[in-house]
Amino acid sequence: MGRRFGQKLMLRSLDFAARLAQQVGDNIVRRSRRNLRVSFKGEIDLVTKFDRDAQKKIVSALSREFPDHGILSEEDINRKPASTARWIVDPLDGTTNFAHGLPIWAISIGLEVNEEVILGVVYDPNRHETFSAIKNSGARLNGKMIGVSSTRKLDRSLLVTGFPYDIRRSERNNLRQFGEFAVRARAVRRLGSAALDLCYTACGRFDGYWEMKLSPWDQAAGSLILKEAGGKITDFGGRPFNIYGDEVLGTNGLIHRQMMDVLRRLSG
Ligand code: IPD
Ligand code: CA
Ligand code: CA
Repeated sequence: MGRRFGQKLMLRSLDFAARLAQQVGDNIVRRSRRNLRVSFKGEIDLVTKFDRDAQKKIVSALSREFPDHGILSEEDINRKPASTARWIVDPLDGTTNFAHGLPIWAISIGLEVNEEVILGVVYDPNRHETFSAIKNSGARLNGKMIGVSSTRKLDRSLLVTGFPYDIRRSERNNLRQFGEFAVRARAVRRLGSAALDLCYTACGRFDGYWEMKLSPWDQAAGSLILKEAGGKITDFGGRPFNIYGDEVLGTNGLIHRQMMDVLRRLSG
């Protein structure tokens, strides 16, 4: 597969995924959110018809274009690949924001080959921003190369994070970590879209990002975009990042150790 997935096919696949995300995202923005019905996957974990419709369009387009690829997508899609390639899709990342009319959400599409993400697209239709990356080729925002920030001190950093859906029931809910960073960093934000958190760190809007209990679709595309933008991404203990893992710490590299020290102290 590695050999067959040459640069030309990569570029074609990235182009296809980006156009698809743009079509689907722009369509969601155009449609009326009036009478929006929200269903609950958990106490505070929402899903709407828009998430499901977006997934349907993305999955059917990817299956038509790449019939031997697998697809893993948030709303209960797990198609086994005939090859070693699999698309990992979050049809709408930031559903709580979307359901409340807050325009901070995105479509995230990543491609994993031999269990490694090699291509990723995150599209924000409210700002017409397309973040993208191909492994070893850098990261881009609307076609222009991007890079992480140059902030060296945690004290001067703007950070972002998120909270897990079991926040009401689990003690491992990120509140202690949030409290600690809130007084050590310049400021901490909670945007509500993990995919955008990673991309905003990739283009220097944030200096660092941490979160726990995410799913592969939240972070497949964004993690590659951050890496390719020159960022560093690991778990809280500095071990290699894994999209199937439980922790993500993504930074500009320069404040990585300082953030790790805070996270390590709290896990002990
Ligand atoms: C959620 C968002 C949020 C993060 C949650 C995710 P969803 O994804 O990325 O920022 O904190 O953990 O589940 O449910 O809106 O696709
Ligand atoms: Ca998500
Ligand atoms: Ca989602």
